[in-house]
Amino acid sequence: MDYRLLADRYGTPLYVYDFDYMASQYETLKNSFNGKKSLIAYALKANSNLSVIARFASLGAGADCVSYGEVRRALIAGVPKYKIIFSGVGKLDEEIKGALDEDILFINCESEAELRRVEFIAQTLGKQARISVRVNPAIDAKTHPYISTGLKENKFGVDIATAKRLYIYAKNSERLEPIGIHFHIGSQLTDITPIAEAADKVADLARSLIALDIDLKFFDVGGGIGVTYKDEAAFDLSEYASKIALAIKGLDLTIICEPGRFLTAGGGVFLTRVLYEKHTDAKRFVVVDGAMNDLIRPALYNAYHRIEAIGKSGGENVCDVVGPICESGDFFAKNAPLPPVERGDLLAAHTTGAYGFTMSSNFNSRRRAAEVAVENGEDRLIRERETYDDLLAGEIKLLKADSQPKSRVF
Ligand code: LLP
Repeated sequence: MDYRLLADRYGTPLYVYDFDYMASQYETLKNSFNGKKSLIAYALKANSNLSVIARFASLGAGADCVSYGEVRRALIAGVPKYKIIFSGVGKLDEEIKGALDEDILFINCESEAELRRVEFIAQTLGKQARISVRVNPAIDAKTHPYISTGLKENKFGVDIATAKRLYIYAKNSERLEPIGIHFHIGSQLTDITPIAEAADKVADLARSLIALDIDLKFFDVGGGIGVTYKDEAAFDLSEYASKIALAIKGLDLTIICEPGRFLTAGGGVFLTRVLYEKHTDAKRFVVVDGAMNDLIRPALYNAYHRIEAIGKSGGENVCDVVGPICESGDFFAKNAPLPPVERGDLLAAHTTGAYGFTMSSNFNSRRRAAEVAVENGEDRLIRERETYDDLLAGEIKLLKADSQPKSRVF
């Protein structure tokens, strides 16, 4: 891929996505479930650009959404409503109502209070709510604590005994139709053992529920498939799929898998240009035009993204690659070996197709980056760079004190 050409054409900072790579990740995962009924519900939070979602939808993917905003994105991008799932520990009434109005596949409930809220809203709308319950199997996924979700102390899901009680309640409710069972123990998992253990525990629960005449149809194993950022071993998809299939042996359940990172991370590159080199007594700094607002993973998780100086080689020397924001967390790499670079040189931060743009912000009143897709050797813009007018739109009309009616707080 000619990154220099893309940077010249679309400017920097820029996210570039290899759609062919993303499509082949999808096919590889889908094929690993061969012989089993399965639905790959792409976790939109990893990369929710409409064109990315539409590409997966064209391959048959569903969507795992965690807000009504994501449900809207999935629908607009062409994901059929019967392949859309809505998860998350704190859904708003309006979001639950939206999901019921759109008649998506099911709402994944994460607590007893939420299950009852879904029932109440379904009642007021005169509808039936298809639901699943997220089970927290109390298993250590052995990943970064911020993205580990299956431990007893995590806020996600309910324990097995509570889940059983909720399913029985749902079965007896006129408004609830329990059709799925769900777990997700964490993200960027590299070890299959905890997933297999979780699958076994949740499958045992599914068996006991089916014995109670609860008509489950979907076994949702969440996402979490790890990728290689640096030296992580490649995730063994066939072992993963066969462990899951084994867990539900004898049960007539469709497997739902909700990958985000696996489908998109390796297909994304973040391009940023060198502004200055700066040397202090202690360090060499390469200051670039991208910042932590564009890609926050290094600051938030101390995550590693390989940095490449495009078209440069030799004379490598360690440096910190940093952005212009006044925070010491504003870095893309620490002590990274880079050749000498000059103003205007292009750097690529690799494996940034997941949780890159979607976690970006306008911190420091910076415009969010543009996004470009490359497919079959052709590139196209899939999100315009924000303008300063975009940044101000929600405020400027309210700037004048007399531009709106007043109300008194006390
Ligand atoms: N399903 C559920 C219920 C989830 O909570 C998540 C991710 C996924 C699926 C997709 O997980 P994946 O396949 O992408 O691992 N911002 C972090 C990752 C947070 C993941 C949260 N949940 C990062 O940049 O590493």
